[in-house]
Amino acid sequence: MKYNFDEIVPRKHTDCLKYDNVMEIFGTEEILPMWIADMDFKTPDFIVNAIRKRLDHELLGYSYCCRRWKPAIRSWVSRRYGWEINDEEIGFVGGIVPAISFALQCFTKVGDKVMIQPPVYHPYHHVTHDLERTLVMNPLKLIDGQFEIDFVEFEEKVKDCKLFLLCNPHNPGGRVWKKEELARMCEICAKYNVLVISDEIHCDMALKGYKHVPFATCCDKAKDICITFMAASKTFNIAGLKSSYHVIHNENIRHQYHEFLRKSELDTAHVFATGPVATAYEQGEEWLEQMLEYVEANIDFMEQYLKDNMPKMGMIRPQASYLVFLDARGLGLPHDELVEFFIREAKVGMNDGAMFGEQGSGYMRINLGCPRSVLEKALNQIKAAYDKISC
Ligand SMILES: Cc1ncc(COP(=O)(O)O)c(C=O)c1O
Repeated sequence: MKYNFDEIVPRKHTDCLKYDNVMEIFGTEEILPMWIADMDFKTPDFIVNAIRKRLDHELLGYSYCCRRWKPAIRSWVSRRYGWEINDEEIGFVGGIVPAISFALQCFTKVGDKVMIQPPVYHPYHHVTHDLERTLVMNPLKLIDGQFEIDFVEFEEKVKDCKLFLLCNPHNPGGRVWKKEELARMCEICAKYNVLVISDEIHCDMALKGYKHVPFATCCDKAKDICITFMAASKTFNIAGLKSSYHVIHNENIRHQYHEFLRKSELDTAHVFATGPVATAYEQGEEWLEQMLEYVEANIDFMEQYLKDNMPKMGMIRPQASYLVFLDARGLGLPHDELVEFFIREAKVGMNDGAMFGEQGSGYMRINLGCPRSVLEKALNQIKAAYDKISC
């Protein structure tokens, strides 16, 4: 491999949420952080160099989206997904969670119903709730070790909703939705006039044997009823740049959303927001391929480790990205005790599965975007704690 993903990059004392904020999150400093979704791998050199190059000009005044940014996005989604988009369909927004919040404010009113499919990325719950929209849950069903959609319930629940928040690929389950599944969701949403927000932040990280399908491309109707949010942030470990974008084909929806953002100047990019993303899309394919290969080997490693050493636990094998839903129900602990057990006994900091919805009770989400030695250390610590309660 050209890139060294085994390298340990010290992250403490860099105002890093994952390492420097553990006391606030876990109530102790004595913890190995395996939570929040950024990776412990170095941001690729070509991106860091692009930022350095910009800094050679020692004046950081107002800027606009760099001229290479839209062509780079167009080319990226065309190469990777066969998705043809044009410049006016792309717009900047500084982060996908803010972008979702703006979409909820733009297209729904207080009290309107918004559907999500738990267990799902926790800010979907919080943002919808904080904006006083009504959350409608269509829980995913765990069938043969993977999350599936019950389409009868899907239709029953979504028909009174204004908006459906789709996580594509899914976090924390790691499901890469198939084209037929997306088309079925689209068919139902179109029937009831439901706007689909497709959060595709994890799209570039489909693992071996899986292919990401942008919702907008799943069938003829999809383009007209959705907003797609994408970013290079997870893919290239640049989440701190707070740079993402939306793609909207439908002119009416696009106009409304653009106007909403424009009125509060929410569509303006800071000086490092778009140039590094253009560089990532222009030069990043080889790095991405190698990173995914490394992550896939981490997933294999963990799966085998659990089988060999902790048979009472299992995992939902992700089809995309580096997040794994660890199934600890077999330990037989009440959920609150389980969470405490991993913090106090194993000293490994993971996301509490229940934060994604009550269906995540008995699960923890662990981040495998790290050097193998760090993963091994975490698993060894979990095993030592496991052995104490499992003999
Ligand atoms: C599904 C999903 N959407 C959005 C985000 C966060 O996006 P941003 O940092 O751009 O707000 C994450 C981060 O983990 C995520 O997993």
